[in-house]
Amino acid sequence: MSRPELIAPPEIYYGDSEAKKYTQNTRNQQIQADMTYRALELLNLPPDEPAYLLDIGCGSGLSGEILDEEGYVWAGVDIAPSMLEVALEREVEGDLFLQDIGQGFGFRPGSFDGAISISVLQWLLNAETSHPTSSPPHRLARFFQTLHSALRNPSRAVFQFYPSSDDQIQLITSIAQKAGFGGGIVVDYPNSKKAKKVFLCLFVGGGGGGTSLPQGLDGEEVDDGGKARFERRREREKTKNGKRKNIKDRDWILKKKELYRKRGKEGVPNDSKFTGRKRRAVF
Ligand SMILES: C[S@@+](CC[C@H](N)C(=O)[O-])C[C@H]1O[C@@H](n2cnc3c(N)ncnc32)[C@H](O)[C@@H]1O
Repeated sequence: MSRPELIAPPEIYYGDSEAKKYTQNTRNQQIQADMTYRALELLNLPPDEPAYLLDIGCGSGLSGEILDEEGYVWAGVDIAPSMLEVALEREVEGDLFLQDIGQGFGFRPGSFDGAISISVLQWLLNAETSHPTSSPPHRLARFFQTLHSALRNPSRAVFQFYPSSDDQIQLITSIAQKAGFGGGIVVDYPNSKKAKKVFLCLFVGGGGGGTSLPQGLDGEEVDDGGKARFERRREREKTKNGKRKNIKDRDWILKKKELYRKRGKEGVPNDSKFTGRKRRAVF
């Protein structure tokens, strides 16, 4: 079966019916969640601080809802109105922007503490958009240059994507390097046809949390449609992040409110309204 990016431009491929179908598919939900957890692991953010993240190609919010679950504040950009519509219906907490990432970002320098992008980058290589467009290398250059500026120094951006050749990987990494990023490619389960996943792990400055490229995962393939792997990772993340969840105490909530206020979010409750019990009720 052909990959979606070979079939039609993204905003057409992800029309109303495909956006709903994609989002309701439980296998998609599991796979996207699993890869988002792994991207967060590779992002290597300090465990005890709130962070403002960019979800590039956020779609209907399958990746974003993991950011919500993990307590991050985030903004998402996507080119497909129908995907963003579904994200709105699902009431994800991120701020959503309709945007073609190939045209570059207009965010203020240093706006984000990190970025993730799940199953998106291959679209910049493979599909024409219906917008006025230029060649993939030009679009990639604009994208990486403006992303580099939108990220704080040091920080990381982690992309899971589906390259169809080594040449594509080479093209993407060389353009990212020219835009000022360090880092490189991390491959999980390289010997498994089903479980193999490619991540581009980019560093701004030292990358935060160590300058060396993280190791890819290896081990046995699990032939259960990814479910067991997902559940295990989820559990592992929960245990690892147990610390993170438990630190949603007064200080953590106050810091998060300060972050919201800095970003100009309206209606952030006074600190005296602090309860620390129900996150949705607090913010
Ligand atoms: C497979 S979906 C992934 C969505 C989400 N990250 C997830 O994990 O479910 C790929 C997304 O990339 C978006 N996309 C593709 N090309 C794009 C572009 N040039 N600018 C912005 N978004 C784009 C599509 O609209 C689609 O929502």
